[in-house]
Amino acid sequence: MRLLSVRLILSLIFAVTLVSLFSAYNQVRGERRSLRNDLERRAAVLADSLAGNVEPYLESGSLKKLQVIVDRFSNRERLAGVAIFNEKLEPIAQSSGLTQLMQARPGVIAQAIASNQTQSAFVREGKAALHIYALPLTETTHQGRAVLAIVHEASYIQAQTARLWRETFLRVLVQVLLIVLITVLIVRWSIAGPIARASQWLRALRAGKVGSASITMPDFDLLRPLAREMTSIAESLTAARSAAEKEAQLRQAGESSWTSDRLAVHVRSKLGNSRLLIVSNREPYSHVRSGKSIECVVPASGLVTALEPVLRACDGTWIAHGSGDADRDTVDSHDRLPVPPEEPKYTLRRVWLTKEEEEGYYYGFANEGLWPLCHIAHTRPIFRAADWQHYREANIKFARAVLEEMHGTEEPMLLVQDYHFALLPRLIKRKRPDARVAIFWHIPWPNSESFGICPWQRELLDGLLGADVIGFHIQSHCTNFLQTVDRTLECRIDWEHFAINREGHRTIVKPFPISVDFPETPEVKPEQDSAYLERAALLRELGVDALFVGVGVDRVDYTKGILERFLAIERMLEKHPGYQGKFVFAQIGAPSRTHIKRYHDLLADVEAEAERINWRFQSSGWKPIVFLKRHFSHREILRYYRAADLCMVTALHDGMNLVAKEFIAARHDEQGVLILSRFTGAARELLDSVLVNPYDIESTADAICHALEMSPEERAARMRRLRKAVKEQNIYRWAGNLVAELCEVRLELPEESKPKIQVHAAAQLD
Ligand code: F6P
Repeated sequence: MRLLSVRLILSLIFAVTLVSLFSAYNQVRGERRSLRNDLERRAAVLADSLAGNVEPYLESGSLKKLQVIVDRFSNRERLAGVAIFNEKLEPIAQSSGLTQLMQARPGVIAQAIASNQTQSAFVREGKAALHIYALPLTETTHQGRAVLAIVHEASYIQAQTARLWRETFLRVLVQVLLIVLITVLIVRWSIAGPIARASQWLRALRAGKVGSASITMPDFDLLRPLAREMTSIAESLTAARSAAEKEAQLRQAGESSWTSDRLAVHVRSKLGNSRLLIVSNREPYSHVRSGKSIECVVPASGLVTALEPVLRACDGTWIAHGSGDADRDTVDSHDRLPVPPEEPKYTLRRVWLTKEEEEGYYYGFANEGLWPLCHIAHTRPIFRAADWQHYREANIKFARAVLEEMHGTEEPMLLVQDYHFALLPRLIKRKRPDARVAIFWHIPWPNSESFGICPWQRELLDGLLGADVIGFHIQSHCTNFLQTVDRTLECRIDWEHFAINREGHRTIVKPFPISVDFPETPEVKPEQDSAYLERAALLRELGVDALFVGVGVDRVDYTKGILERFLAIERMLEKHPGYQGKFVFAQIGAPSRTHIKRYHDLLADVEAEAERINWRFQSSGWKPIVFLKRHFSHREILRYYRAADLCMVTALHDGMNLVAKEFIAARHDEQGVLILSRFTGAARELLDSVLVNPYDIESTADAICHALEMSPEERAARMRRLRKAVKEQNIYRWAGNLVAELCEVRLELPEESKPKIQVHAAAQLD
């Protein structure tokens, strides 16, 4: 710091001195020039007027008169004297002071006589500085040529110049002193001070003395631009430290809980130099136009809720369909972008589909065919040959993108997601036998008879069996799958290990119950101090007055049992009229797949049903159902979870259902009751919820009443146990188990295939 101050001071002094000297030099020159000009002017005026006076006497030879005139003029200000010389340079008349001063004849007088022109010059006579102005006079018969010399004392010009230089010196001196003082103060206040404070803060942080609440760096003035970076380093450090502490505590307590850090370490140790790739249809972030700007949106998807924290923890690449209308504007030339946008942790690679492809593959085969095929929700699947063709082509397109992302990586690990990509495992394995491939089926797998109605069941199963590991949420889906394969394909099923051996390849089939992140402290600080105030604020926004609040959060999908839920609420109000005017149910419904008629109609049905029930019961300031038909961000949904007395998940059939787990994870206050359909995968784990059959309106109505009237002790005890279950079986355990299982797989690599592995002929995929 001292060196910096010295350097700064010296540079400033040098610069200021240089500038001052330069300007002083110019000023002195100007001043001297103007003084000299002034003197010359005065001498010329005097000479002119004197010439007129002396010439007649010169002509008449009256030398005495001349002397009188010369003497009269010679006592003017700064005038050293006046003299008239003849052409031999002898004085004809001369003021008394000059005799002493001008013992020699200055050349300027001789020049004036010789040239017969006015001459002037500054000369030095002994110690005196003089200005001589020599004006040739009219030639006379007595004297011949003569010159009038006006001699001025000029040393005052030098004195003036010297004074200016002195003043400059003093000014520079004062400036230098001020500079030194100001620099020292600035360095001390604005640089040394903040640096000292920052280093003190960092030291405290390193020593673990800065609590998480005070992680944000205090205002460090000049270092403000660094503050954000340092704050995020501090946050990471604090998070890492608390993760390490938590690990140590868990080890101490003999518990083994999964955290994002543990997953990151686990995946890194399993992957080595390899890379984690995930492929899903739905992308974790989509960019959509909103007026003139572009907004980044997190889609309403259980899959995204579950996988996003995994990718954040492990880095890697997520390959997905770019479905946002501004998606193309936000990728690089390889269709990639780093996400999350605010703090990138992994890469998103977008795949583009044409309208026809999306129509046939996503809306058609995946969502009008496979979706109702796998869910027992009494909507008939529709299978069209053209949709199947698009499904195959889309799988090939995604496979190409996956192979590109795998290029150059040995033994990459691929986690394929969901029913959109049944053909992908085979396509990848064929080109990259060194890849470890798992597919996770996020929806139920029906029994073999139901699945058998799909005209392309053999192709779908063959595609799936390209994977090393196939995951479902629960055991019964695994069993259904194995039975389907057993009935459909030529293969050997190892029932003991739940594996399928086919054409020299082994596929493990296992349940991996998916989950959510389970933050120990609230992710978003509640806006209000108490749940009571938070609920009051929410009700105000909804425009209803109520004592009890229920919440439902769903994509508007016929599998979610939203209509059945509304009927149960209606029945509860009929059976228990005391809740009329007191219980309100907020249904968040994100419109989904509305391009499909069944979904489009359902949305209208849900709205109409809410309206019908409201019309029947509503009173001033109250209605039983508030239907919020739009996509809500996770942050927005958290407010509803926290304010609710109960959450209803009444899916008619669901692989897992993550809303149930999200609700539990959000209840740090250990309050709230979960009413859960027994036809969800979550019902196998969340045994302390109030389990219902959503088709049974009567008993679901009773369950609502039971939840509302449950004693606070029972409510808290149930929620505590539910929270323990979700905490233990969180998303990091899901990912950790899946990755561990995949790493156990022995790759069957034929020797001759090894050299070809890096060369992927994507064009030959089909
Ligand atoms: O449950 C299956 C699933 O793909 C989920 O993973 C996801 O939450 C949901 O469907 C969303 O569907 P989509 O991506 O078609 O909107």
